[in-house]
Amino acid sequence: MTEKIQKAFIVYCSPAGSTRHVSKVIRKTLESLKIEVVECDLSKKFSETATISKIRRTKNGTCMFVGSPVYVSHAVPPVMNFISRLPQNTHLPVVPFVTWGGASSGIALYEMAKALETKNMNVVGAAKILALHSMMWQMKEPMGMGHPDAADDQMIQEMVGSFLDKMATETSGAIDLSQLTSYPPEIQAEMRKISLKSAHLPKRKIDQDMCTQCEECSSFCPTDAISFRPWPEFENRCISCYNCVRLCPEDAIRADFSQVEARIRARAEQFKETPLSQIFI
Ligand SMILES: Cc1cc2nc3c(=O)[nH]c(=O)nc-3n(C[C@H](O)[C@H](O)[C@H](O)COP(=O)(O)O)c2cc1C
Repeated sequence: MTEKIQKAFIVYCSPAGSTRHVSKVIRKTLESLKIEVVECDLSKKFSETATISKIRRTKNGTCMFVGSPVYVSHAVPPVMNFISRLPQNTHLPVVPFVTWGGASSGIALYEMAKALETKNMNVVGAAKILALHSMMWQMKEPMGMGHPDAADDQMIQEMVGSFLDKMATETSGAIDLSQLTSYPPEIQAEMRKISLKSAHLPKRKIDQDMCTQCEECSSFCPTDAISFRPWPEFENRCISCYNCVRLCPEDAIRADFSQVEARIRARAEQFKETPLSQIFI
C-alpha cells in the first residue's frame, strides 16, 4: 500500500545543536509541503513520554524522523532508549539520521536502523550529516568546521522530497541496512565493544572558588544529570557532551582536552572515512 504522508514526528537529541539544525531543516521542508510536524527534543522533560503515547495512536499517513549525534561510534543513549520504548508493530515509515564530526560515523546509523527494524518499523531512508565536531569547539580548525552548510541543507531537503515521493509510489521501500556502515565486520565488532564509559573521555573538575551554584550547567544538560550537593555532581546518565564545560558562565567546570585532539585526528586517520554527508533512500 502506498501512503500520502500527512503527519511526521521528528525526534532528536542534540547537545551542541547540529542535530537540532538538521531537524529544523527537515521540519521546514515538511511544513512547506503542508505536512503537520510533531517535534520531540529528548532533552525536554516529559516530551518523550508524550510523543510515545502519540505514536501509539498513529494512523496511516504518519512517519517519523529520528536523529542522534555520533558519540564514540554509537548513537547516544537517550536516542537508543527512546527507540527501545517505542511500541511494537506500528509499521511506521521511519528515517534515522546522525550528525558526525568527521572522525568516524561508526555504527551509529546502522544500530539505530536495526533497533527501529526490530520494532517492525519500516526504515525507508537514512542520512549521515557532517557537522562540527562537538568535542573540538576550543580547538583551531576543528573537524567538520562550517558544517552542516548550505549544501548539506540542500541534501537534507532533497532527502525529504525523495522520501515523500517514495512513500507515494512504492509499497515497501525499505532500504538495505548493510549500507549504513562502511566498516568491515571485524571493525564493527570492535566498535560494538567501545562505550561512553570505556572510552576514557576527559574527566570534569569543579573549581569551587569560581562556581556560583547558578545551575546554568544543569539547565543546559540534555540528560538532567547534574545535581548540586552543594557543588555540581554528575549522575551516571551523563553522556559526556561537555555542555557544562562549554557553557558554564564562570568557567568553573573544566576538563583537560590536551590529549583529545591528537586522539580524534588519529582516529580519523585510522578509519579514513571521507568526511561527507550522505543520504540513503
Ligand atoms: C563524547 C563525544 C564523542 C564523539 N564521538 C564522535 C565519533 O566517534 N565520531 C565522530 O565523527 N564524531 C564524534 N563526536 C562529534 C559529534 O558526533 C558531532 O559533533 C555531532 O554533530 C554533535 O551533535 P550535536 O551538535 O547535535 O550535539 C563526538 C562528540 C562527543 C561530545
